[in-house]
Amino acid sequence: MMWSKKHILDMESLSVEEITAILDTADGLKEISQRTIKKVPTLRGKTVVLFFHEPSTRTRVSFDIAAKRLSADAISISASSSSLVKGETLVDTARNLEAMKPDVIVIRHSSAGTPFLLSQKVSTPIINAGDGMHAHPSQALLDMMTVREVKGRLNGLRLAIVGDISHSRVARSNIIGFSKMGAEVRLAAPPTMMPTGIESFGVTVTYDFDEAIDGADVIMMLRIQKERQRNFLFPTEREYSRRYGLTLERLKKAQPDVTIMHPGPLNRGVEISPDAADSVGSAILDQVTNGVALRMALLYLVAGGMRNADDH
Ligand code: CP
Repeated sequence: MMWSKKHILDMESLSVEEITAILDTADGLKEISQRTIKKVPTLRGKTVVLFFHEPSTRTRVSFDIAAKRLSADAISISASSSSLVKGETLVDTARNLEAMKPDVIVIRHSSAGTPFLLSQKVSTPIINAGDGMHAHPSQALLDMMTVREVKGRLNGLRLAIVGDISHSRVARSNIIGFSKMGAEVRLAAPPTMMPTGIESFGVTVTYDFDEAIDGADVIMMLRIQKERQRNFLFPTEREYSRRYGLTLERLKKAQPDVTIMHPGPLNRGVEISPDAADSVGSAILDQVTNGVALRMALLYLVAGGMRNADDH
């Protein structure tokens, strides 16, 4: 298919065909990272601005590496190193960045809706690298890429997402993405961390971890997002871990070849035990590896790499 979407803002706005095109493109670009010289000229002359207003290791570094592997120039700015600290508004900052003619702006922000707002205010393509509790589309796409690689399909798989669903943009994007691609999604969390009305997304909801992972093909564990919680939502970490922590013992309830996922950062010993995180079924570091290829695919599609390839 010819790519026509200007921005990558959330999973709702991507069709099944577009998701498939992104995953196929990422599969094709993955081998570049295995070469001795990990660089192709596809986005030579293009400029990518990485505008991160929240801490990030995986997303920021992998977008940066992805841009460089495609020969684009990548420039990173953070809230503390920009003129936002002098009182400039976010929209003015984005307009000033736009005036320097970048080809893509990748943004992470603590407020939901910021990437959408910027997409209305500037003409540069925007990629959402995580906005508040709303969406993290590149994470969901790399998660789908990883599951498709391990299991050979997404349709019909049983995915259990467990943990702090309420505050998780990763959960929200994965619920929408995996459901669109035909997977059965089950959610497990304490009642205080389960959003009301989430069943309307077509998912199964339970407060019982063992019920959610019974026969699951994939288990996705989530960190407790303390930075987004206003109140204490569970008695103690020990109690949370006992009821909602993934251990090798608990894994016996899932399929024998279950794939274990986590978007990171991990809190070992809280939502996942170290031996479960490092077990043979763990795809946690494969997710990170695939994050580079998936973000290469997004930059390639959004920055017009397809048109460049035609020119060459
Ligand atoms: N998964 C994820 O978004 O990790 P970072 O916060 O380190 O980017």
